[in-house]
Amino acid sequence: MRNYKLLNFKVNGNEMGKLVAIEGLNQIPFEIKRIFYIYGVKGDAVRGRHSNRNSEFVMINVKGSADVRLHDGSKEHVVNLSKPNEGLYIPKLMWKDMYNFSDDCVMLVLSSEVYDENEYIRDFDEFLKEVSKNE
Ligand code: TYD
Repeated sequence: MRNYKLLNFKVNGNEMGKLVAIEGLNQIPFEIKRIFYIYGVKGDAVRGRHSNRNSEFVMINVKGSADVRLHDGSKEHVVNLSKPNEGLYIPKLMWKDMYNFSDDCVMLVLSSEVYDENEYIRDFDEFLKEVSKNE
């Protein structure tokens, strides 16, 4: 499996509650150009089903739980995200499926690139072809 990584963020907590701070190029390995968040996902829905040619991501479930299946072209690995202080770093050219969303799940995603539909690979066979060209 290529180099995905689980990141643990420091929790600043006291009797008033908790706070996690994330800075580009500091807690995460890229400059943040885009954030988006996914919520209100039905329990049986599978999101993602794509790979990105250029974007790197960090996914954080700031609330709730979901599973992320990563495929690097030869192996797959499933990561459960359920802690607001845990991030999943995903390099480019990884196939991603997100599923088993809890009703309350809010998945925050940080990305190294702005949105460009042309860098999305939405066909798994095409993804396998492009990975094998790159390695
Ligand atoms: P999509 O990539 O299919 O979501 P997921 O990976 O969670 O299944 O995106 C859903 C819609 O949102 C699609 O119409 C494209 C749009 N979108 C943007 O406009 N900007 C973005 O940064 C993203 C990630 C999606």
